[in-house]
Amino acid sequence: MPVETWSSGIYHGSPLERRSSEELRRLLGQAVAASSNGILITDPNLPDNPIVYANPAFERTTGYPMEEALGRNCRFLQGEDRDQPALEELREAIRDGRGCRVVLRNYRRDGTLFWNELYVSPVHDEEGRLTNFVGVQNDVTGRRRIEEALKGSEDRLRLAVEATGLGTWDFDPVTQELRWDERCRAMFGLPPEAGVDYGVFLAGLHPDDRERADEEVRRALDPEGGGEYDVEYRTVGLRDGIERWVSARGQAYFDETGRAVRFIGTVLDVTERKRAEEERDQLLAREQLARAEAVATRRRLALLASVGPVLYSSLDYEAMLERITRLSVPELADWCLVDIVEEDGTVNQLAAAHADRAKEGLLRELLNHRRFDEGAPGTAAQVLSTGRSVLVSVAPDPLPIEMATSEEHLEVLRRLGMRSFMSVPLLARGRTLGAMTLVSSDPDRRYGEEDLSLAEALAYRCALAVDNARLYRERSHIARTLQRSLLPTLPQIPGVEVGVEYLPVGEENEVGGDFYDLIEAGNGDYPDGWLAVIGDVCGKGATAAAVTALARYTIRAIAMREDEPSSALSALNEAMIRQLGDEQFCTVACARLKPVDDAGFELTVARGGHPAPLVLRDDGSVEAITPPGKALGVFRDPELADRKTHLGAGEAVILYTDGIVEARGPDDSFFGEGRLRDLLSSCAGLEAPAIAEKLRDVTLEYGEGNPRDDLAVLVLRVSERP
Ligand SMILES: Cc1cc2nc3c(=O)[nH]c(=O)nc-3n(C[C@H](O)[C@H](O)[C@H](O)COP(=O)(O)O)c2cc1C
Repeated sequence: MPVETWSSGIYHGSPLERRSSEELRRLLGQAVAASSNGILITDPNLPDNPIVYANPAFERTTGYPMEEALGRNCRFLQGEDRDQPALEELREAIRDGRGCRVVLRNYRRDGTLFWNELYVSPVHDEEGRLTNFVGVQNDVTGRRRIEEALKGSEDRLRLAVEATGLGTWDFDPVTQELRWDERCRAMFGLPPEAGVDYGVFLAGLHPDDRERADEEVRRALDPEGGGEYDVEYRTVGLRDGIERWVSARGQAYFDETGRAVRFIGTVLDVTERKRAEEERDQLLAREQLARAEAVATRRRLALLASVGPVLYSSLDYEAMLERITRLSVPELADWCLVDIVEEDGTVNQLAAAHADRAKEGLLRELLNHRRFDEGAPGTAAQVLSTGRSVLVSVAPDPLPIEMATSEEHLEVLRRLGMRSFMSVPLLARGRTLGAMTLVSSDPDRRYGEEDLSLAEALAYRCALAVDNARLYRERSHIARTLQRSLLPTLPQIPGVEVGVEYLPVGEENEVGGDFYDLIEAGNGDYPDGWLAVIGDVCGKGATAAAVTALARYTIRAIAMREDEPSSALSALNEAMIRQLGDEQFCTVACARLKPVDDAGFELTVARGGHPAPLVLRDDGSVEAITPPGKALGVFRDPELADRKTHLGAGEAVILYTDGIVEARGPDDSFFGEGRLRDLLSSCAGLEAPAIAEKLRDVTLEYGEGNPRDDLAVLVLRVSERP
């Protein structure tokens, strides 16, 4: 290689200039050998442009020892990987004898890839003939990897930004310069060429969101914070006026002095999502409302359904109202009162309940203060005088004195708590029977029209039940009075003791029809005996009383003329069939006593469907006298007959109604004829009134003092000493 070519790069005046060319060659050879870059020299004048020199770095880079490389064209470094665009450029340069720079994929001797940045330069002799090519290799595998990785992440970012529709922005807090990409501009309703700055940003925000967004920017730029920015706002298109929802995210960067120097981020149009969210929220709200209404309706229906069985469970309407008020709290109210107008016109606070039992004392205290006279304070008094409901959705706070009869009354009301309340009338047959007042002490429960109509429905049902119960009471009273008026005054019978027990005990609306009588029989001037009668009329109340009257007076009339008890019963049967409807019938037993001699009486018994009279002998034995005979008022011929026996001193005949034998014990079993006979046996020696009393007491005791039916017993006993 001619020294002159090299010397052109030597500094004038340097001692190198004075060195011999031999020395210089050696020096340059050392430099090339010491280079960390692989250096090659090829000779294009030899076939296939072989390598004629390679430095040690070439060996290190490629792994090929010198002797394997020398004499070969460099393409062996490409292995099979020959389809590289850069090779074309290289070939052209070599062909033209020019220098060039290419990056090639090369493979080390062990097959591993390395990226080779190759500088090729031609070398000419003084005549300008191409003598050699010098190649300098630079292993750029590491750099290339980083570049590829970067490119990969950039590509991914670009793809991500494009796919998600993100817009980007970049703000320089120092210069206040703001850059928006096209998408970001579009989100503010601006064309791609529009100029932007922070003022444009603020102007493009929805007025309601402007302050908040501006505040978020300031917060992000505050060096005290982490620099994050995450906000949703509405924009109103600066040119197109369209409202859009935008989700903006970003990050501020600070220099070492803590100054914000860069603030970059993205924006995303989330209008669709927001609309969907709004729609979903609306749907949700509607659904919740509908659900709440359904729940409320169900609870109302449940409340009305639950009061149903209470209303008609008993005729004791005071207890019924007490239970209704109890059911109303806390379901409908925190506390509840029912005031009833009594028959004499006075008003009674009849029922009261509080959800908090501890406050029921306060409700009782109200009794001392409330008034119901004309113009008295309080909604209940108002309802009682007008018959119209009153609803106070929101009670004045504090409660005014006008609502109370006194300071003390007001104090009780305040302690009970009144935030919302309503009073509704108990209306039946056009009359106001009372008022129901429902009070909420919870500020969250305010009564409205729907609550009022539920309260009215409840009060209406209560009113019907009260009215009903009162009607029954009235009718029962009439029937009872009538029935009692039909009970006879018993005559004295020489030589006979009489004991009677009568207990009309049916439910008030079920005054039964037990009756008894003791009649002097035969011609009034010449009485020849007595007729004892006991009967049980079917039907209740006043109807039963009418049949009783018919039975008693018919038997009385017949007893005057007819001798035999069966004749009296037969006449009664006829009268009933003639005068009464099909549904009315009765059972009767008659026992006639006729003195026969000094020693006693003749007893003649007839019965129409009635329990057989029993005879208690003086030895304690009991006999049933059982003539045949069907219930009266049903059959044309009830097939009646008489049976006779003798009653001696100390012996008794007992007539009774089924209230005795059908008394039910705690296990629901009947008292029954067996127990009755045993009981009677134990009565031997007792006088007639004592026997009757004992029968009554034992029966009552058996039924635990809670007899279900009327009960009548008539005992005639021949005195021991006539
Ligand atoms: C001085 C010089 C150094 C070269 N060094 C390399 C090299 O390190 N790696 C390589 O793949 N090719 C290198 N080449 C290129 C190949 O020798 C060859 O010119 C290339 O493969 C294109 O020719 P081809 O199509 O005949 O293979 C070098 C060429 C010259 C002239």
